[in-house]
Amino acid sequence: MKPLLFAMPGNEEFTHLLTSILGADLGLLETRTFPDGETYMRFGSDVQGRSIVLVCTLDRPNAKTLPLLFAANAARDLGASHVGLVAPYLGYMRQDKRFHPGEAITSSSYGRFLSSAFDWIATVDPHLHRRASMSEIYSNPVGVCHAAPKLSEWIRNHVSTALVVGPDAESEQWVSVVAADAGVPYVTLEKTRRGDRDVDITFPDIEQWRGKTPVLVDDIISSGRTMEVAVRCLLSLGFIAPVCLGVHGVFAEDAYERLMTAGASEIVSTNTVPHTSNGIDISGAVAKAMSEFLQ
Ligand code: R5P
Repeated sequence: MKPLLFAMPGNEEFTHLLTSILGADLGLLETRTFPDGETYMRFGSDVQGRSIVLVCTLDRPNAKTLPLLFAANAARDLGASHVGLVAPYLGYMRQDKRFHPGEAITSSSYGRFLSSAFDWIATVDPHLHRRASMSEIYSNPVGVCHAAPKLSEWIRNHVSTALVVGPDAESEQWVSVVAADAGVPYVTLEKTRRGDRDVDITFPDIEQWRGKTPVLVDDIISSGRTMEVAVRCLLSLGFIAPVCLGVHGVFAEDAYERLMTAGASEIVSTNTVPHTSNGIDISGAVAKAMSEFLQ
């Protein structure tokens, strides 16, 4: 039997892309908010004996997670044989250690919540900087796909003489792959984060690359400070206005506008988080990551 996909609110477009790639069925899930703020939910499609998938990108996760857990729980209660989650962006991955005494390691707690609710999860480039793999955080199987090939393709098609720039040492793991695949050079910068919105960046000697178009590549654009500081530095060094390429365009508050004001020539993200900057469709890779779990 075909898998049955349900879009949590706001995920309709990505869910349609997945159903058409996979030839899956699209289910109906009705949700609304009671006057007191609690959630009403009703499956309008029969899930009995079906392998179902909830599609829910998890930026701004606090408001999304409780309805998502209700939906997973209700699907099981109604007889679904398997319940999977497609979270193109998986939130709560960054607080993955106790940086100061007494802090909550929310990455681990969130992993436990979702692992207990779903048989499997599929996601795109989760923020694994200090952990080697998802199995250190999630106890259920997690299928991970990577945006790097699509980012390289975008660079090849849109920038003639690119220099890929990674904003911190940790970004080397993907910027090196993106640059090699695009056939262009890369550099990585040194980043120090002093606070949520306070980032300092130092540059290596990049004089030899003058004349190239810097393409800043990062996994997440959240507050936008990392990209913003890097854009300003590159411009002050006399470089051409940089392009900003992010896998996950979270864009907290006015991050997008600030980044444009800082002098970015263009900001492009994949469609893991719906946003006006979405210029790269990643649904094909997600569908492939899901297919190993679908029965
Ligand atoms: C950091 O480890 C990540 O790779 C990104 O550089 C970071 O999440 C970007 O955050 P923001 O946009 O808030 O500077």
